[in-house]
Amino acid sequence: MKSLTLRNLHKTYFDPAVGTRVTAIQDVSLEIGPGEFVAVVGPAGCGKSTILNMVAGFLPATRGDIIVGDRPVKGPGRDRGVVFQNFALLPWKTVIDNVGFGLKMRGIAKPERDRIAMEFLELAGLSHAAERYPNELSGGMQQRAGVVRALANEPDVLLMDEPFASVDAQTRMTLQEELMRIWGERRHTVLFITHDVGEAVFLADRVVVLSKGHVLREIPITIPRPRG
Ligand SMILES: Nc1ncnc2c1ncn2[C@@H]1O[C@H](COP(=O)(O)OP(=O)(O)O)[C@@H](O)[C@H]1O
Ligand SMILES: [Mg+2]
Repeated sequence: MKSLTLRNLHKTYFDPAVGTRVTAIQDVSLEIGPGEFVAVVGPAGCGKSTILNMVAGFLPATRGDIIVGDRPVKGPGRDRGVVFQNFALLPWKTVIDNVGFGLKMRGIAKPERDRIAMEFLELAGLSHAAERYPNELSGGMQQRAGVVRALANEPDVLLMDEPFASVDAQTRMTLQEELMRIWGERRHTVLFITHDVGEAVFLADRVVVLSKGHVLREIPITIPRPRG
């Protein structure tokens, strides 16, 4: 796994309402070690998704550097896997084909990508649903499939933007525990975004508190795992 470094990141957006650029992210620096799980927590509008989208390469930074391992981020790449709150599974594809989609894009043949997809579906306890379509799954299972899809590409860094915010509390706990188990086995470098302090403390090695686009403080979480 690789480290993720954010160095003096700035992001301004043009706001047509006021006719000027407004600052969304201000001088954010963060060092996430290989295999480390870092949660960024903060209220709505504080810039969490802006940071994640810049790291994912979907959004250019106004200023500053993002480095994965020793490579500067110039755009989206396979070294980073992204899971959003509402992970858009392709509704016309089965779960196994959704999970294997990134592998297909890389030119991996069907039998091999089915084998890889199945391995990751088993890891998440979802192999029984391999041939189902997304609309035949519960919200929790869809979200689980979204996580599996990101994992199947074997990214160095996993980027998660409030991935469990739209499922019920019971399912959320199950998904958090599953993520901990999978992370325990695979040790991805994780940048996990949430507005839920409890979730951040349950999951992370370190919690970064974001306020109005800048880092307020960083809190190491030393509670031994499993937690809760
Ligand atoms: N495309 C955009 N254009 C203008 N302003 C934006 C855009 N995206 C986000 N913002 C603003 O940047 C700030 C941070 O947004 P965001 O990163 O989505 O926060 P969070 O994910 O923490 O809720 C907010 O004030 C938001 O209104
Ligand atoms: Mg957001």
